[in-house]
Parts: sequence; C-alpha cells; structure tokens
Amino acid sequence: MTEHDALPQDFFFGAALSGPQTEGAWQSYGKIENVWDTWSNLDLGAFHNRVGSYGGNDMTRHADEDFGLFARLGFSSARTSIQWSRLMDENNQLNPEGAKYYHRLFAKARQAGVEPFVNLYHFDMPTYLLRRGGWESREVVEAYATYAACAFAEFGQEIERWFTFNEPIVEPEARYEEGRWYPFVKDYARARKVQYGITLAHALAVDAFRTAQQAGVVREDARIGLINCFTPPYTRENPTAADLEAVRMTDGINNRWWLDLVTKGTLPQDVINTLAEHGVRLPMRASDEQILSRGVVDWLGFNYYHPARVQAPGRSVDELGNPVFAEPYVWPDAVMNESRGWEIYPKGIYDFAMTMRRDYPDLEWFVSENGIGIEEDHSERDESGRIRDAAYRVPFVRDHLRWIARAIDEGAKCRGYHYWGVIDCWSWNNAFKNRYGFVEVDLAHDYARVPKESADWISRVAHTHQIL
Ligand code: BG6
Repeated sequence: MTEHDALPQDFFFGAALSGPQTEGAWQSYGKIENVWDTWSNLDLGAFHNRVGSYGGNDMTRHADEDFGLFARLGFSSARTSIQWSRLMDENNQLNPEGAKYYHRLFAKARQAGVEPFVNLYHFDMPTYLLRRGGWESREVVEAYATYAACAFAEFGQEIERWFTFNEPIVEPEARYEEGRWYPFVKDYARARKVQYGITLAHALAVDAFRTAQQAGVVREDARIGLINCFTPPYTRENPTAADLEAVRMTDGINNRWWLDLVTKGTLPQDVINTLAEHGVRLPMRASDEQILSRGVVDWLGFNYYHPARVQAPGRSVDELGNPVFAEPYVWPDAVMNESRGWEIYPKGIYDFAMTMRRDYPDLEWFVSENGIGIEEDHSERDESGRIRDAAYRVPFVRDHLRWIARAIDEGAKCRGYHYWGVIDCWSWNNAFKNRYGFVEVDLAHDYARVPKESADWISRVAHTHQIL
C-alpha cells in the first residue's frame, strides 16, 4: 500500500476495556452474581489455569495507576462498561454502593485526564435474569431498559459518550448457537431469538436515552452508540452463486442487521425472509416496528480483529437440525495469530471503512477495539525485565493504523482508535492466556503493572499522531 503515515490532530487514541474483565471485587460493593461468576462456580476447570471471573485484572485496586498509565501513553479516553450486576440489585433497583463505585471510577479517570466512555453491557447478564429466560424473555429485555434508564439518571451529567452494547452478536453465537459459553445451547433458532431480544433492548435503551436527554437528565452534548465486531466478509476468488449467498447471510446477520438498526431503525428484510424460509421465525410483535425505529444512534464503534471468510456450506442442515448458511473458507494466503487462531488482515479495516462511506455515509464511527493477544507474550524479557513484544505488537498496530489513515484520507468518518486491553486483562474462559496489553499484569506479583517494550512506541504514536 502507499504510505499513509499520519492521523488527523483531532483523531483520538484510547483504551478499550470492560467491567467484568478488569474490576474484580466480585462480591464487594453490593455486586450480585453474573453469568461469568456462575460458570466459574460451576466449573473452574473450563477456565485457562483455573482462573475464573472473580479477580478481573484487579483494576478496583489499581484504578489510579491504570488511568495514569493511559494518560502517560497519550490516550485521552477509555471505554469501560458498567456491570449490570453491580449497579442494580436483585430487584433491578439501583444499588447505591454500586453507583458510588462507578462515580469514583469515572472521577479517577477524569482526574488523570482520561475521558470515560461508558458501555452498558459486555456479555455479563445477572444470573437471576438468565434464569428468567435471558434475552429470550421480554421481561428481561424490559429490565435492561430499566437498568439503562437508571444509569442515565445516575451518570447523565457526568458521561458524554454512551454505548448500549458491546458486540451484541457474540452472545447469540457463543452461548446459543455454538454452545461454547454457559449455558452451552446449540440451537440456531434460539440464537436468533436472543439476537432479536438484544436488538429490542438496544432500541429501548436508545429511546430511554433520548427521553432522559430531552428532560435534561442527560447532558445536552452526550451521544449514544452501539459497538459491534463487524467482520468484513470475503469468499474465494471466482465465487459461485452459492458462495455469494453464504456471504450475503454472514454479512446480513453479523453486519447489516446492526448497521440497518442503528442507521434506519429497521432490520434487513432479505435476512428475515431467508430465516423464515428456513423455519426460523423471530418473535416479532406488531408494536416492535415502532420500538426498532428508536434504535438509530449518534455514532458507532467498530471492533476489528479479523475478517470473515466464508463459502457455500457442504450441507444445509447440521446433525442437530440447525440450518447452515455458510462454512469457513480457509484462504491459502492467510497470516494467522496462532495463539488466538484469528487471521491478521489489516486491510479489513479499510474495506469496512469504504463500505461505511458508500452505504452509511453520514455515520461517524471509531475503531473501538483492535489488538493482538499472544499466549503469555512468549515470556521473552529484556535485561530490565520488560516483555519484548515490539517485534510482533508494533507491526500489528502500525499496519492497522496505516489502513485507518488511508481510509480517512479517502473520506471515511473514522474519529479515533481504542486499543483493546492496553493493560493485560482477563479474557473470559481464556483468562490470562492471551496477552493483549502494552502493559503487563504480573500475576505472580499481586497484579503489578509493568510496561512492555511496545509501550514506548505506542506512546510516541499517540502523542505525535505519526504512525512510526
Ligand atoms: C472482543 C471483546 O471480542 O475481543 C472482548 O469485546 C475480548 O471482551 C476481546 O476480550 C479479545 O478477545 P479474547 O477472546 O481473546 O479475549
């Protein structure tokens, strides 16, 4: 590619994190059990090195230090999430201790000169609500809207940047379609029902936000968005019509579903029709159209780790009777991050940006997560004890930033870049296996924070906006 080595001066750099992966303090400040705690309690062996959800990366004790590190690296913002299971009690009423916890956390961010961006849900449903049907239940969807309204009322004067969900596609897939995450369901139709429930919950929360803003409860300059792991879809060279059909459905479920929702307040009709043709019917009510129309956002977060490469499936139904719309296509030229099993394809960010420019030209967005998780960072250290990660972490980030710079030069409305983790954190059932950070968390020394070799590089880039 040609050189695109500078980012606009108003382009922001920041950190992406989540409550359940950082906070720890799982039984303090009135926090109730969430699905990660329940799975950890049920089967700690399912978590890498038997490290369950309880400790996060101990941010509760390190918050001042962590925000200070972000600021020193040149990051002006950090997105984390409020845990529903901390802010609300088991009657879905505000937990005052939880509220204080987050007021303190956001104040610490601001004291360090870092703006907190707040997301309301990061795969972390309170367990009692999962037991009442989770996202398949309207009661739970409405409970989420109540929680969101409560958060807006509590923090509405403090927070400018809000998000309803992180990666709303992941729970339907991981918990209900592939059965990898508790409660381990493998039912395609239920997964889409869950997806639909989250979709309604998003729209109800945006509606609550607008109402709160009109009433002056939320600041006038606040904005709300949605964050998803959009996966630019690709298939083989010289595709058949069936390959293109696989691309259409993958793109439809993972990308267009959410993009139509947040720009038009509708869902893609071609996807709904194909689902219905395969016996998958969404539990739509007549009044839902009105609810969905409220789902239009002010801006969007794009989490990017890898593209989706698909082809026509070898079978149309799996052994459990689930419809199959696509199967993975292994691109012979793929460069892999073997630790995570994800393809590294920086140009995907540019391709997504060009799709956005063409199909959704008015919507502003930012790269809300990107990063590389390497198993134990190979534990290679220099004489001073710092992890030597520059050889792989720097080119990964540099290449992605260059494609972002090029997209911006060509008119994409990409406003910033948040690196995932920045400080190593707990990654679901992979726990601390794959390390993403520019800063190590040393588990053997009480979660001590130790900058890695790459920290110097990203700091220079974030301060100068030159992609070195
Ligand atoms: C994103 C999530 O999918 O990717 C994060 O928003 C997650 O929660 C990150 O940690 C990296 O993925 P993983 O599975 O390696 O932790």
